[in-house]
Amino acid sequence: MPVEFLVQPDSEAALDEAGPREVPAGAYRDPARYAAEVDGLLGRSWVVAAHSSAVRPDRLAVWDGFGQTVVVCRDDDGRLTAFANVCQHRGARLAEDGAPCPGGQVVCPWHGFTYDRAGQLVAVPRRASFDRQLVDDLRAPTVAVAEFAGLVWINLAGDAAEPFGDWIGDLAGELGDYGMDAWCLVGERRWPVAANWKAVIEGFSEDYHARVVHDETIPSGLMYDGTQIRLLGRHSMMVTPLASVDYDALVPPVDHRRHAYCHYSAFPATIFSCFPTHAQVMSMVPLAVDRTELRVQVVARPEAPVGTDQARYDRRMASGVDHFAAIAAEDLSVLDRLATTASATGYRRNVYSRLEARISRFHRAVDDVLGPYDLGPSGPASNGGKAPHAD
Ligand code: FES
Ligand SMILES: [Fe+2]
Repeated sequence: MPVEFLVQPDSEAALDEAGPREVPAGAYRDPARYAAEVDGLLGRSWVVAAHSSAVRPDRLAVWDGFGQTVVVCRDDDGRLTAFANVCQHRGARLAEDGAPCPGGQVVCPWHGFTYDRAGQLVAVPRRASFDRQLVDDLRAPTVAVAEFAGLVWINLAGDAAEPFGDWIGDLAGELGDYGMDAWCLVGERRWPVAANWKAVIEGFSEDYHARVVHDETIPSGLMYDGTQIRLLGRHSMMVTPLASVDYDALVPPVDHRRHAYCHYSAFPATIFSCFPTHAQVMSMVPLAVDRTELRVQVVARPEAPVGTDQARYDRRMASGVDHFAAIAAEDLSVLDRLATTASATGYRRNVYSRLEARISRFHRAVDDVLGPYDLGPSGPASNGGKAPHAD
């Protein structure tokens, strides 16, 4: 019998309706589609900029990704602001990640234009030499910012951004229950991946691959045969029972967040891989159509579970970064080699099973924003004008 968790899994019929069961290879290698994804999807979506602890009144955080660069600031009252990390004089990069923020000001390293924490230009050396209308009321474009689950999120759409609460939807309750805003940052890692960002997302959105790819690193801790999938609008989740838990001894419905491994996709580019005591937050940051940076923050509950020695618990949490890195290396060894097949004529399309329904839902959500990639014979020129399913 499957474990009865608090969250109900979707029926097989619902998973069958999740989204496209096949996606043409062109969707992963077409520069035009990639440009549309950057402008129309990623540039208007909420993405993780930093762990909350990295944004302090005395220290800036800088986020770079898909051709954009953003400064994130926090004032003495804890309020966050964000703006384009681009000087409005002649385009210099204003700041680097972790730079000090004396007096709440950001000073351009080229000619000294000075901005406040909101990106408003507040001082210009030899100001009288400029036409007043060129510098009065000048500001770096605003980036929307929010804080949730111990993370600072940004949305490049600025004032036009979808409100964070509307976007996060049902995930707010699921993730909020962990209390991650009180969790500690244990470590951060970044990996370059020679693959399209959507392929990287997909690589971390199902556990179908786990028995093949992670047979040794995750020998028997996770009971993949018992995985349950739930689609949450454009987001999704997956709950996997833990071998270490005696579910028969628990009264159903079992709180999955406390007694199982839960995996959440925050559409489009963020994944939470959550254990009861710790989590990995993965951000897929596209750098080019065929290059992605995987950024991971490992976070943990600060206090050890009842009955567990705190020092031992702390050591185990600290070693979790390396353990995760070993698992991720296995995924990346497969994902990196997608570079060798990406343009091969033998790569025609992906097909998805019901176990990969979360990927189908991801593609449906992308299509809802950008329109379907596969438009048939009159579709994108990058499809070669061919119906991709003609074979
Ligand atoms: S480019 Fe920033 S002050 Fe000149
Ligand atoms: Fe994996």
